[in-house]
Parts: sequence; structure tokens; C-alpha cells
Amino acid sequence: MTSLPASPAFEDEIASYLERGLEHLWVHTQQATDLAQEDGLKVFTRGEGIYLWDMKGRQFIDAMSGLWVVNAGHGRAELAETAAKQMREMAYVNTFAYTSRPAIDLATKLASLLPPSINKLFFVNSGSEAVETAIRMAKHYQYNIGEKKRYKVLARRGSYHGTTAGALSVNGSAMLNRAPWEPLLPGVVFVENVNCYRCPFEKTFPACDTFCARTIERTIQAERPETIAAFIAEPISAANAVAMPPPDYWPAIRRLCDKYGILLIADEVINGFGRTGKWFASELYDFEPDLMTMAKGLSSGYLPIAALGISDKVAKEFEGDKSRTFGGGITFGTHPVACAVALANLEIIEREGLVENSARNGAYLQSRLNGLKERHPTIGEVRGRGLLLGVEIVKDPATKELFPESADLPGKLTAALIKNGILCRAGNVVNFAPPLVISEAQCDDLADRFDAALAETEQQFGIV
Ligand SMILES: Cc1ncc(COP(=O)(O)O)c(C=O)c1O
Repeated sequence: MTSLPASPAFEDEIASYLERGLEHLWVHTQQATDLAQEDGLKVFTRGEGIYLWDMKGRQFIDAMSGLWVVNAGHGRAELAETAAKQMREMAYVNTFAYTSRPAIDLATKLASLLPPSINKLFFVNSGSEAVETAIRMAKHYQYNIGEKKRYKVLARRGSYHGTTAGALSVNGSAMLNRAPWEPLLPGVVFVENVNCYRCPFEKTFPACDTFCARTIERTIQAERPETIAAFIAEPISAANAVAMPPPDYWPAIRRLCDKYGILLIADEVINGFGRTGKWFASELYDFEPDLMTMAKGLSSGYLPIAALGISDKVAKEFEGDKSRTFGGGITFGTHPVACAVALANLEIIEREGLVENSARNGAYLQSRLNGLKERHPTIGEVRGRGLLLGVEIVKDPATKELFPESADLPGKLTAALIKNGILCRAGNVVNFAPPLVISEAQCDDLADRFDAALAETEQQFGIV
């Protein structure tokens, strides 16, 4: 990690930002008292490629692309210029009645990249809004085709879909404590997630014959299929420990949804735009969803924008009589400037072959991380696809026993990672998802830094 000395005036400025940040800014998901601890609140000022620099001049590898966002990498002047040009020409137009050229261009481009059955795009501002819209549209679709009793949504334990009310309701992740916000959306039914390393059914693949997918049929029957509108899931769930579904998992879910008239919503908010080495992770598993949510890598975070991709089957049920219209819009949805930036971002990803780079260097980084197993008894499993990777840390690889909460593995490992210049999320699973521009040499650097950070953490636990 390089560290540039800060001048005294700069130190004053740092102190002022830290003080005012703690006083006035609510950092999402954090408590100010935690951030007030030494080196707690970090203020970042510059980004370039896979790197970020904080106010103190320290350089870090942005090993999770922010929050799986900055696929095209930091410091893209081209995207800044695209935004400025569009703002000068026209910043905004009433998006409930009219539209703009960038919106049509972006929708056209996405339709060419998405599975063949998805040809319509509904733009919003965040992944949560895309999920919210998907749930609302799924119910409305069922209503329009006369299936008016279908209001339930199947979701999976361990998954994450956002924090607006509907998205929050389908979150099966234990990361968020739902209790203070209940009651949430009625009719959300959770099924078990996929996880071949820690099978919730204590079965083993392939002998299990993908029981985790097959058994969902029992839930559907118990809930009565005629009450179920949709099934929502991420093709590969980062929240669910980056567990990799077996090859026949998704085709089996697709078949179940078709059999019972349930719409399949693929949440590709993290998975999309090259993250898994394909444009979309549903390609990896060879299935086409009825609705697909996208965000994050759509603009690489240069402006907030998200999308819902709608299959022809669903779209056609909103045509005809006025009463069939999908009402309700979002003021900043389809924002011309965000659409222009997203389109330019997709052009960069395509021009520079970043999807292919994600597949190639993702496999390389995965092999480097796997190689660390020899030196680190705490590495239980390395898994993922492309540049969506997870390293599961265990106390005992033979039994897969986890460190107890009291050991504070996340706190200790995060501190060691930061000391070694890595920004990422580290709990029992360490998430690696660097920008798709990462080179092989940078993968080596990342793996070496992780090696050092893990060794320091293991030392603290008396493991050598
Ligand atoms: C799979 C998935 N869906 C939806 C969301 C919600 O997106 P946002 O935070 O943009 O609202 C997230 C956020 O991380 C996500 O990972």
C-alpha cells in the first residue's frame, strides 16, 4: 500500500471532514459511534482503474468494485463527458409521457444483449426499485390474464434483493433484522437456497439429484399454485455466500415455474454486465427468465440507473384496453443523462472485451486464491464464476466449523485487509469482485495482499 504524506493544511482538512462526517452524514448500514473509532470513517477522493485513494493519500484495491458496481473501472473521463454533453443538451423531460433519444438507444442496446425473449425495458434508479417493479408487474400480469388470486411471491432464504418495502419483504438474508419493520408484504413464502458446500438438506451433489430445486414443488403445492404470482432469485447469490448452483438447478426451477404458471424473476442486479464472465448469469445456466432486474454494472456506478427487462410473454398482457396499462412511474426513472451514461458504459464493456476479461482473469484469480489453500488452513472453499468470487473462511476445514461470533473474524480480517490495501467485504465469506478491467498482474497483487492479510489474521487466532 502506498501512502503519501499529507501536508499540515491537508491534515486540517481531513480532520474537518471527519468531524463533520460523523456529525451530519448518515453512512448507510453504520453506526456513527463505530465510525468514530480510529481509522473508522474513510473519505475517498480519487479512483483510477481498480484503485481508490482516500483523503490520507492511501491507495487501496477496490476489490469489490464498491458494491459490485464499478465494472468498467474508476476514472472513465469518457463517461463524465457523456454526462456533461447530455446535461448541456437536455437534462430532463417528463418521463411519464415523453422520452429521450438516450432512453431509446439504451433500451435498444440492452434488448440486443439480453436473452432473445426480453425485448422491453423499464428504467428506474436502483436495484431495489427494479425488484419492486418486478414484483408489482408480476402481480399485475397475473391480474391481467385473469389469475386474480395470485399474490404470493416465492423467495429464497439467504438472498438479498434491496430495502424498499417489497424488496425488503423478499429478502431472505439474515443480514437485515426484519423485526422492526414488520408487517412487511403479505404472501412472501421462503424456500431453501442452494449451497453445495453447506447443503441445507445435508445432502451431497450429485447424489442429491438437485433436491434443493426439486423440493420447491412441495412448497408450491402446499401454498396452492393458483395463489402464487412469482418466484424471485439471483442466478448466483452473492448474499448467499456466492454459492454456485449445480448445472441443472436453474432449468429445473424454470420447468417448475412453467408447470404452475409462476413468473420467474431473475435478479441480475449483481450478476449482470459481465460480472460472471457472461453478459448475464442466466446465460451460464441456459435459462430465460420472464422478468430480469438489473442495476449496478449497468452504469458502472457513474450515475444511478437500474432496469427491469420484460419478456414478450409478459409485455403483451399490458396491451389493449386502457385498464390493462401498467400504471405508476418514478420521476427520475428513464433519466436521459443516466441512460446516456449507461449506454456509453455498455459500449466500453463491449469495446474493451471486459466480459471476456472477467471470464479469463476471474478464472486466474480463482486459481490463485485456490493455491493459497496450501498455506492457509482457514480457507474452506473458493468458489464463484468470472469476477464474482467468494472465499469461505473456516476454523476447521475438515468439519467446516465456523469461527464463533465472539472471535470477531469479520472485524479482525477486515482490519488486516485494509492494512494490506484491500477494500472488500469480509465475514465468513470474503467477497472478491474487482472491476472487470483487472489485469493478470493485478490479480497476483490482490492474491498476494490477501495472503498477507489472512496470515496476519490467522496469527491473531494462534494458527500458523
Ligand atoms: C441481488 C440484488 N438485488 C437488489 C439489490 C438492491 O439494489 P440497490 O441497493 O441498488 O437498491 C441488491 C443490492 O445489493 C442486490 O445485490
